[in-house]
Amino acid sequence: MPSRIAGTGGYLPARLVTNAELALRIDTSDEWIATRTGIRARHVAADGEQTSDLALAAALPALAAAGLEGRDVDLIVVATTTPDMIFPSTACILQDKLGASGGPAFDVQAVCSGFIYALALADRMVASGAAKNALVVGAEIYSRILDWSDRGTCVLFGDGAGAVVLLPGATPGIISSHLHADGSHRRILEVPARIANGAVTGKPFVTMDGHAVFKFAVKVLAEVAQEALAANGVTAAAIDWLIPHQANIRIMDATARKLGLPLSKVVVTLDRHGNTSAASIPLALDVAVRDGRIRPGQHVMLAGVGGGFTWGSVFLQW
Ligand code: UT7
Repeated sequence: MPSRIAGTGGYLPARLVTNAELALRIDTSDEWIATRTGIRARHVAADGEQTSDLALAAALPALAAAGLEGRDVDLIVVATTTPDMIFPSTACILQDKLGASGGPAFDVQAVCSGFIYALALADRMVASGAAKNALVVGAEIYSRILDWSDRGTCVLFGDGAGAVVLLPGATPGIISSHLHADGSHRRILEVPARIANGAVTGKPFVTMDGHAVFKFAVKVLAEVAQEALAANGVTAAAIDWLIPHQANIRIMDATARKLGLPLSKVVVTLDRHGNTSAASIPLALDVAVRDGRIRPGQHVMLAGVGGGFTWGSVFLQW
C-alpha cells in the first residue's frame, strides 16, 4: 500500500515581528530585508512556548483533517534543530501531549531539510506496513539560537510548525523521495556550540557564509527536483506546485528558473513566515492546501536544503 497525506496543519506563534521593528533595534531596513530576501515579517515564540507546543498546535488540525484523534497516532517523527531539550526527543514529548502511546517516536535532525527526510522515512514505514499511520512534523524555535545583534542572520529566521498525517492509500500519494547529504560543506551553516561538563562551549548561535549557502542551495534544489522528475520519467511540466524550502525569494526564483517553472507555480510563505527551517515546507504546504490552490490529482514537488549540508525532494500526487 502506498502512503498519502490525509491532512495538513500549521501553527505560527502569536507575536509577529516586522522588518520595521527589527530596524528599530539593529542597523537594517525593511527595504534591505525585503529586496535581498523577500521577508517582511516573522513570528517569534513566547518565552513559555516550547517546540513541542508548536508541534502539538500544528498536529491537531492535521489530525482533524485526517479524521484521527491524538490517541490514534502510531508513528511520530518530528524534524527539528531546536528540540525542547537534549533528551527525550521532542517526538516523545509530543506523543505524551497528544495522549498517544506505544507507537515509535523519534526526532530527525537534518536542519532545514529535516521535514523532507522525516517525510521520506515515514512514507516508507507506512507503505511497508511497519506503521499504521504517521504524524510527521517540522517544528522550530530558531529565535532562541539567533544572535539578535547580528543583522546578517537574525533577520532571516522565524518560528513555527507544520504537520502532515500519512495514511496507507489505494493510489500513490507520495510517489518518490530522494535524500542526499555532503558533510564536507558542514561549516558554511552551523551552530558551533557544545554542551559538556555543565558548560556551553563555542558560539550557540546560527553562523553562516551567506554567499556559499545561497549558491549551494540554488544548485542542489534544482538538481534534486530534476532527479525526482527523471526517476518518474516526467518533465517539469508535470509539476503543478513547487514547494521549496523558504529561505530567500531569490533562491526560490533561481530554482524555479532552472526548472523552467514560472514563479506563479511556486508556493511562497517566506514573506510572512521568514525561514522557519524544518517547518517551512509543511507550513507552506498547509497554506496552499487550505487556500484551495492544491487540488486533488495535482502533482506537488517538495524540495529542501539545509545545514549539514543536506538536501532532498518528495514528489507526490494530491
Ligand atoms: O536555510 C538556509 C539559511 N541560510 C540562507 O538561506 C542564507 C542564504 N544567503 C542569503 O540569503 C543571502 O546571502 C543573504 C540574505 C544572507 C545576504 O544577501 P546578499 O545579497 O548576499 O548580501 P551580502 O551578504 O553581499 O551583503 C551586502 C551588504 C553588506 O554590506 P557591505 O559590505 O556591502 O557594506 C552587508 O554588511 O549588506 C549588508 N547587510 C545588511 N544591511 C542591512 C547584511 N545584512 C544586512 C541587513 N540589513 N540585515
